[in-house]
Amino acid sequence: MKEAIVASGPKVTLHDVPIPTPKAGEVLIKVIVSGSNPKDWKVAELIPPHNSGDDIAGIVESVGENVYEFKRGDRVAAFHQMTKPHGSFAEYGIALDCNTFHIPEKVSFEEAATIPLAAMTAAVGLYNRLGLPEPWKPTTTPIPLVVYGGASAVGAFAIKLAQVSNIHPIIAVAGNGQTFVETLISREKGDTIVDYRKGDQAVIAGIKEALQKAGASELRYAFDAVSEHNSFQNLSEVLAAEGSKITLVLPGKDYSAIPKHIEHTTTSVGMVQDIGNYDPALAVEGSPTGGKDFGAAYFRLLSRGLNLGWLAPHPHTVVPGGLNGVEEALANLKAGKASATKYVFRVEETK
Ligand SMILES: NC(=O)c1ccc[n+]([C@@H]2O[C@H](COP(=O)([O-])OP(=O)(O)OC[C@H]3O[C@@H](n4cnc5c(N)ncnc54)[C@H](OP(=O)(O)O)[C@@H]3O)[C@@H](O)[C@H]2O)c1
Repeated sequence: MKEAIVASGPKVTLHDVPIPTPKAGEVLIKVIVSGSNPKDWKVAELIPPHNSGDDIAGIVESVGENVYEFKRGDRVAAFHQMTKPHGSFAEYGIALDCNTFHIPEKVSFEEAATIPLAAMTAAVGLYNRLGLPEPWKPTTTPIPLVVYGGASAVGAFAIKLAQVSNIHPIIAVAGNGQTFVETLISREKGDTIVDYRKGDQAVIAGIKEALQKAGASELRYAFDAVSEHNSFQNLSEVLAAEGSKITLVLPGKDYSAIPKHIEHTTTSVGMVQDIGNYDPALAVEGSPTGGKDFGAAYFRLLSRGLNLGWLAPHPHTVVPGGLNGVEEALANLKAGKASATKYVFRVEETK
């Protein structure tokens, strides 16, 4: 089969390799459409060249021992185990069964490929890190939330999930993607958009004004889906002096500029693969570690949300040439050219 290997640059090369075999608990998927994420070029700068794609949408080819939910022929999407072999930039990829979910009939492979990594990051940030009310127990009292990067894939999914949790007012910080973000928010519930392109002082003033207009006395929750360009410095200016929380998305970054009175955590989607810093409080002796269970539960919920219609996929751009287009797409991600879109690849277009 063909597989794309991503090296620092990003520089992408195609190789002919054997089709892998799934081990116990794993699903082998014929990749119809692969998604992409900023980490696909970032991680390639840190570790040796590898198939760094993680968003799989395709058809189950075979399953390993002890996989009971999926069978050959099922339409599925999956979050491949980051940095491990057999990622999504190939004709076949492998994912853990707990990170795989059925694609409802009305959802295309292109749409499904936008979901796994980004939507799960939003779920980890909102519910595990910020501890906000989960979709099956929506809040009945206002909870102001800032989503910094509302047009990004992670930020947009955070807004969509916050809506299901009835979290309002949502203050989304966005720029070029504002028209898209407008479709996600509920102005009648106090939600609004603040434009980051007007500069840091305007962002700080805009958030304060939005809170005031919504009748909110303070801001206690911020999902920083950008975590650079002064985002957390700006949020530090508006978060309440007591009991406020911010979660950030760039692991290993220096967040010491965030004052001590604001509790800060790093959201790591690797948590659902039991890698990264999942909340140790979840690990109870003798019971499952928590991260994979969180992933198993939320992937099923996301699939249900797609079917019922309360969860929409992220807008996507089909990059021509299948895997031949990976290098250009990752270069565009690196250059910050993606606005309110996810680059996806139809693998059969690969030459
Ligand atoms: N830790 C984890 O587990 C994890 C998981 C997933 C992603 N991430 C990280 O999270 C970040 C977002 O990922 P993604 O896939 O959501 O990216 P993405 O969809 O490619 O993000 C592009 C968007 O970022 C927005 N943006 C850029 N600068 C901004 C700013 N200063 N203020 C507000 N919005 C800004 C742009 O908004 P406009 O179009 O409105 O201008 C654009 O639409 C990346 O750095 C990624 O590496 C981390």
